[in-house]
Amino acid sequence: MIVLGVETSCDDTAIAVVRNGHEILSSVVSSQDSLHEPYGGIVPEVASRHHLEMVPDVFEHALERAGITVREIDAIGVTFGPGLLGSLLVGLCFARSLAWSLNIPLIPVNHHRAHFYGAFLRTDSGIHDFSSAPSPGFPFIGLLVSGGHTALLSFHCHSECFMLGATRDDACGELMDKVARVLELGYPGGPAIQASAASGNRSAIDFPRPMLGKGLDFSFSGLKTAAVRYVMEKKAADGTLNVPNIAASLQEAAVDVLVSKTLAAVEKTGITTVVVSGGVAANRRLRNVLSETAEKRGLEVIFPEIRFCTDNGAMVAALASVLIENDSIPENAFVLDANPGAAILPRI
Ligand code: KG4
Ligand code: ZN
Repeated sequence: MIVLGVETSCDDTAIAVVRNGHEILSSVVSSQDSLHEPYGGIVPEVASRHHLEMVPDVFEHALERAGITVREIDAIGVTFGPGLLGSLLVGLCFARSLAWSLNIPLIPVNHHRAHFYGAFLRTDSGIHDFSSAPSPGFPFIGLLVSGGHTALLSFHCHSECFMLGATRDDACGELMDKVARVLELGYPGGPAIQASAASGNRSAIDFPRPMLGKGLDFSFSGLKTAAVRYVMEKKAADGTLNVPNIAASLQEAAVDVLVSKTLAAVEKTGITTVVVSGGVAANRRLRNVLSETAEKRGLEVIFPEIRFCTDNGAMVAALASVLIENDSIPENAFVLDANPGAAILPRI
């Protein structure tokens, strides 16, 4: 079975071809970073217009690299939400029209849920095959850290997961992007903060660790305000900024919060496998600290390959394959609308 995965929820136009739920034949991502960079963040209208321009090319490349013709596609998975409405609509309209014209199933998937399936994608051995191999197995704690959301969930099977905690305000990626902007590090902010932090002192500035020890919800707006205020005050006082120190201290505060909340979720549930997903899962400091902590405590922690942390079509195809296998295609698939605020719960 060959599944096409279409992902246009934000600013990446991404299409992948996945065979039998575990073999990546191609995964093409066209990034819009350089278009949004001058604005220091994503401009929704620019994003959707560019998706419209890029979808045909990205689709053609995905088929070419996979070495298949359009007639060989058996089903199409597509992100229906959450995300930017205009961006979602481009991918959804494309996928719906293609599936309709080929007379094949359309499987709308939730973007956040798809991110977790990206954690099991391996370029070397293909996608983790859920049907035949139990590893990593359920249950697991899912830590979602993207530009749009930050949350902790417990996954018990493909169709059952519970929200343990979520951000009450900003997402962790959003924090990185906004602080990078005032530091004039460019967009996207996360990789820029990470690069700058490499030569900085992690304990130079004692930024707050919001809501530490207070349940499993997150809050990053206080940390964002503290960092922005620090930058503004420093600029006003003497005009000098040690950007690497600010980046390293900010990254450390965010990682501290993410790691300690994840450990609290493990303690609360007794679940000992942790799967991390979303763009911030690419962060080296987070990967190192969480991996070291997990090893000390006998936990299993699974990170996606770096290229599957940020948005991609393969994670969408992977989740769509699982939904097909489990007979979980929604009945209203062809009329399901884009949903910018789609919740990860209860299903798809
Ligand atoms: O999952 P994603 O590609 O898009 C959303 O679904 O939101 O995540 C994008 C976010 C951005 O905020 C970006 O700055 C952040 O992930 N990000 C990182 C890194 N790479 C991407 N944050 C920290 N360190 C990184 N290496
Ligand atoms: Zn994403």
